[in-house]
Amino acid sequence: MLKVIIQGCKYALTIVVSLFWLWSFSATAGPVSHTFAIGTNDFLLDGQRFQIRCGEVHAARVPVEYWRNRLQMAKAMGLNTVCAYLFWNQIEFQQGKYDWSGQADVMEFCRIAQEEGLWVILRPGPYACAEWDGGGLPWWLLKNDDIKLRTRDPRFMNAATNYLREVAKQFGTLQITHGGPILMVQVENEYGSYGTDTAYMGELRQAMIDAGFDVTLFACNPSYDIKKGYRADLFPVVNFGADPANGFKALRAIHPTGPMMCGEFYPGWFDTWGSPHHLGKTPQYLADLESMLVNDESFSIYMAHGGTTFGLWSGADRPFKPDTSSYDYDAPISEAGWPTAKFFQTRALFAKYLLPGETIPNPPATNPVIAIAPVEVTQCAPIFDNLPKAIEEATPRTMEKYDQGHGCILYRTTIPAGPAQTLEAAAVHDFGFVFLDGKRVGVMDRRSGVYKLLLPERKKAATLDILVEAMGHVNFGLEVHDRKGIQTPVKLGGTELTGWKIFTLPLDDKMLAGLKFRIIGFDGAFSNPYAAALNKGPAFWRATVNIDKPGDTFLDLRSWGKGVVWVNGHCLARFWDIGPTQTAYAPGCWLHAGENEIVILDLTGPEKPEIAGLEKPILGELHPEKDFAKARRPKVTLLLDSATPVLTAQFAPGGNSQDVKLPAPATGRYFCLESLSAFDGQPFTAVAELNLLDADDKRLSHEGWTIAYVDSEERDKEDGTAENAIDGQTANYWHTQWGAAQPPQPHQLVLDLGKSQAISGFEYVPRQSEGAGRIKDYRIYVGDNLIQK
Ligand code: GLA
Repeated sequence: MLKVIIQGCKYALTIVVSLFWLWSFSATAGPVSHTFAIGTNDFLLDGQRFQIRCGEVHAARVPVEYWRNRLQMAKAMGLNTVCAYLFWNQIEFQQGKYDWSGQADVMEFCRIAQEEGLWVILRPGPYACAEWDGGGLPWWLLKNDDIKLRTRDPRFMNAATNYLREVAKQFGTLQITHGGPILMVQVENEYGSYGTDTAYMGELRQAMIDAGFDVTLFACNPSYDIKKGYRADLFPVVNFGADPANGFKALRAIHPTGPMMCGEFYPGWFDTWGSPHHLGKTPQYLADLESMLVNDESFSIYMAHGGTTFGLWSGADRPFKPDTSSYDYDAPISEAGWPTAKFFQTRALFAKYLLPGETIPNPPATNPVIAIAPVEVTQCAPIFDNLPKAIEEATPRTMEKYDQGHGCILYRTTIPAGPAQTLEAAAVHDFGFVFLDGKRVGVMDRRSGVYKLLLPERKKAATLDILVEAMGHVNFGLEVHDRKGIQTPVKLGGTELTGWKIFTLPLDDKMLAGLKFRIIGFDGAFSNPYAAALNKGPAFWRATVNIDKPGDTFLDLRSWGKGVVWVNGHCLARFWDIGPTQTAYAPGCWLHAGENEIVILDLTGPEKPEIAGLEKPILGELHPEKDFAKARRPKVTLLLDSATPVLTAQFAPGGNSQDVKLPAPATGRYFCLESLSAFDGQPFTAVAELNLLDADDKRLSHEGWTIAYVDSEERDKEDGTAENAIDGQTANYWHTQWGAAQPPQPHQLVLDLGKSQAISGFEYVPRQSEGAGRIKDYRIYVGDNLIQK
């Protein structure tokens, strides 16, 4: 009998202990107080060692109605924490007006996370990056001509401090110190890749403390920039996509104690228009995850679930690689919330490393998916027939000056009769569609930095229209100072054009509500703008689609050119027929049984005005032949034979970034890295990142940089595009061709800096992940005559 009673007590005790574990390790809602601290080696939750298995999910990139589903899916993957950015520009779209409703109600997102047993790591910014428009920085800051973003410029700091005060007001009670799920809060984002001013980080830190944040404040940086801007009073985490040992070595080098955490561990990567779709290397991802699990290192999978960058919020990588709206990121949880093979592999892996009493729930059901049969789109509203009141000015200005942050802007002037002449603008951010009397004559293209074209002869005075489309504000580097629209002077035949009409086209709800649609009969017997629309003129199109039972679907945009699509008033996404994305995710919760309205703005015009819904996304279909820029780069000839290298040397083996000083400062518009051999003896070259240093050893801004010449790029088997070497991200890289062909060494990459620059040295970041291409012997050339156009 006694034995039975003792046995019974033992069971009861085990149950109580496991319930205690369960309660203490999952973020249960309510007054129960938990503590979280940074121990000497571990994170301590309620005084117990706690390994953070975190994954990034952005509330802004998931329909509100689906937040709980995605958070349940994250929990079912085995995560115990989710990490979420706040996007300042989404919350404070107009200066001084904070809007925390709908997709911006991240407080509600945190509450749901807590209810689902997940802790939260909050990343409020003020700068976030994240392939989000401007990295989260509000466009209205750029109304100040010489503002220095992400510095102690008082205009920036005042606005940022006001914003952080507002954030603390909303999230203060959601901190673990107040019974909420928020364990830690990040200050800024990868500041080390931008500057070295520790006082700037210090002021932000203090502003957050003064505002009411009393949990651990931390800072994240990629391993090769972790020293820059480091402060001991901001707990550091390191970001990397591979090779945890190397990443944590860099972390330990600056921060000898404390738990080790990878703040961003990449299972995939984001896509940019015109480049191949990214797929992660799953075996390496799983191996690196397991090594962190084994070594008690914490991590955050960036992205666990990417979702969709709805609306006009997708950013642009530098120098100018606009991001797709799909943010599938080849994440374990797909864009539409489906558990992928990678999800189940991750779940199985985590199941092997659970803490005592910890369990992983089953994945929730996914949302129903539907197909929509093709529907002809017959209503049309040409842009030139739907213009607002004009603003008249002698010299045109950038979009911000007209109090506009997003969308398009039309610049119109009248030019005299005359011979064929060159039209040139100082710059156009981002695409300038040029029309003469309503007929398109060319495109000014920021990707190549070509802002001039030949206007044909005119027998009589003509209307010149430059319709500028602003894609996302660049979200990385000094290039975040990305003012949209036209930069003057605009010259014709060398003479500056003055006397302009400016039409702001913000593509917002108010503009859409004012459009005058007309039914198009395919007899083309309509006035000029409509006929032009039929002939590829810029126009809005509208269709009514009947749906029996709403469900998630992927709008098929393959027969459309370039623009933006809305469904039932929700701005879904940008589209562009060059790919890689060819569909737009339309969440079922934004569709309804019966009539649904689809509106499509097409700037280049449809092949066939038809819309359908598919049951699967198309994320990896490139069509360079459809690009209005016939070549990705102007054709040039390399002139190295007549040039003298400023340096002939050998890099060190391994993945660490290397700072190289030139024997003497060199000046020129072009910088050429010529690879002569690779450490693995193979014919390939790969470069993760190149930064150039000016005469004061300061990093040069990449603004206006383009790739002038590259002898070889792999763009079929993977995205080895040359621009990857100057986009600021080390998780991707330029890689010479290895699929259809394997051209031998030497290999050359020539940067066009846009103007002559004094260069004292450069930073070379080798390919980070295991694999071919790490350069051994090389030469450097600097000069104005390295290529011939
Ligand atoms: C960086 C940023 C993230 C995101 C990733 C790339 O590390 O911190 O916001 O931009 O790169 O997806």
